[in-house]
Amino acid sequence: MLNIGHRGAMGYEPENTLLSIQKAIELGADYVEIDIHLVDGQLVVIHDETLDRTTNFKGFLANYTFEELRKADAGKGQQIPTLDEVIELTKNKVGLNIELKGKGTAQPVQRLLSRLTTEHKSSILVSSFHLHELMLFKELDKTVRIGVLSNKRIEQVLPNAVELSAFSINIGTKAATQLFVDKAHQTGFKVYVYTVNTVEEQLQMKNLGVDGVFSNYPDRVLDS
Ligand code: G3P
Ligand code: CA
Repeated sequence: MLNIGHRGAMGYEPENTLLSIQKAIELGADYVEIDIHLVDGQLVVIHDETLDRTTNFKGFLANYTFEELRKADAGKGQQIPTLDEVIELTKNKVGLNIELKGKGTAQPVQRLLSRLTTEHKSSILVSSFHLHELMLFKELDKTVRIGVLSNKRIEQVLPNAVELSAFSINIGTKAATQLFVDKAHQTGFKVYVYTVNTVEEQLQMKNLGVDGVFSNYPDRVLDS
């Protein structure tokens, strides 16, 4: 199973920071997952559209300039990273799952990825709950792997995954049933499940035959 560090290794270090991503690499993750928003024309790595939960700043990202945002402490003195910085840190070391969390991220992410080599691009998965962003991304670039993020039933997700020629369907543990996994596999999609933090949950996912798990603790994901 693919071992995907969730927001880096957020069980150990502040989520979506370079420190967290570095930790996931050190703990042996195959991929790291990060969340992306577009602020002031820049792609920044942060989960929420507000700063309150993960930084010492308050309010909406959209109310800040990029320069101001970079002064926020995202934990342990870490800056909110840019996607550029994450790509540089992960290059040739670990795969990267870029979740398009904020609206309007598809086009700038595609533009940024278009500068990478074909080999580098092949280690990147772009995912989102926003179908519109994924459709737009797919229109602009048919080569990068797409992951459809969803917590709907398989009958509702499959048509979207087919339309997008997706690589994977990424779902929460509650949605992960045998029927879901089997149908996704029959139609040619990998199934990655979030968030799997205990060995017990991992064994359940392994029994279902899922292809990868997102974990806050990448060192707890057993080789299999
Ligand atoms: O990409 C898997 C997972 O990260 C999606 O949920 O809320 O943690 O971004 P969330
Ligand atoms: Ca995410």
